[in-house]
Amino acid sequence: MSNTYKIAVIPGDGTGPEVVAEALKALEAVSRKCTVNLQFKKFGLGGDLYLKEGVLLPDDVLEELRTMDAILLGAIGHPDVKPGILETEILLRLRFKLDLYINLRPVTLFPGVYTPLKDKGPEDIDFVVVRENTEGVYAGGGGFLKKGSPDEVAIQESINTRKGVERCIRYAFEFCRKRDKKRHLTLCAKTNVLIYESDLWNRVFQEVHKDYRDINTNYQHVDALCMWMIKNPEQFDVIVTGNMFGDIITDIGAIIQGGLGIAAGGNINPEGAAMFEPIGGSSPKYSGLNQINPLATISAAQMMLDYLQEEKAASVLQEAIKKVVKNDLKSLGAGNMGHGTREVGDLVVSHIGV
Ligand code: IPM
Ligand code: MN
Repeated sequence: MSNTYKIAVIPGDGTGPEVVAEALKALEAVSRKCTVNLQFKKFGLGGDLYLKEGVLLPDDVLEELRTMDAILLGAIGHPDVKPGILETEILLRLRFKLDLYINLRPVTLFPGVYTPLKDKGPEDIDFVVVRENTEGVYAGGGGFLKKGSPDEVAIQESINTRKGVERCIRYAFEFCRKRDKKRHLTLCAKTNVLIYESDLWNRVFQEVHKDYRDINTNYQHVDALCMWMIKNPEQFDVIVTGNMFGDIITDIGAIIQGGLGIAAGGNINPEGAAMFEPIGGSSPKYSGLNQINPLATISAAQMMLDYLQEEKAASVLQEAIKKVVKNDLKSLGAGNMGHGTREVGDLVVSHIGV
């Protein structure tokens, strides 16, 4: 008996539809091979729908998405829509309303992939960032005073709840134990300046650690951690951090693992919904050119299979991705792969070997 899953697909903007098409191709191949039954339903959310009909993320769509087993997202961001509207009303609203409180971002350098870090290889770059995904400055607290005047005040609040911090840290400890590599968890914060929020994070981290004595821990200020990610990435196993720092450090993570062409992430509520996406944006300048790298989205699909506990299918797909980057691609960068977007999808399918 094969398991059946309802998968919502949001191709989104720019190159989103192109990379999602390749991810669906790969998912269809791997689900045939491993007898997993995936039922896809497409949702046309994004900049085009907003420009045409003024629609962002209607409540009934949100409710339908809640009933799906997982969501696969291409990209959100349109050159004709002012920055902030689509991101806040679609991407962040999905994260908040579905309470996808974990943003899981693996940083893995596959063999054969170029990293800008000199003398570092796949054995050095293999860690996972657990980013809190619903709080901090992203919660949108704040406001203007005397806007537009010389006396203007802009306040951006960082909201950190005990519950939000604890569930994120607990997830990170659990994840680190399950991953079972170095059994080492690093807390990334800024206790020397953010004397309220980082203090909360640090206290909760120490407390929760009491339940996970098999895990070693350390603490790094975010600025120092940025440096160490470049200098000695091999020290990391799992890093847990707040929303904003997590956003920033995972762009460093993406570039050292080969760039936005390969970096994927999962927005997860361990008790509920989950949405998987490539970390790179909609790259409008590559849109429609068959030049963008679909592997990040295919990796997001692989994370989705893992989340659905279809480990066999996930590992078959990951092996196929590894073969493509090792044997077939000149570079992971858009326009420099030596193949088009669709051909890279075909290569993944051929390595799945149906
Ligand atoms: C990311 C992106 C988003 C974020 C933007 C598009 C709102 O940068 O997923 O990392 O800041 O979380
Ligand atoms: Mn980001």
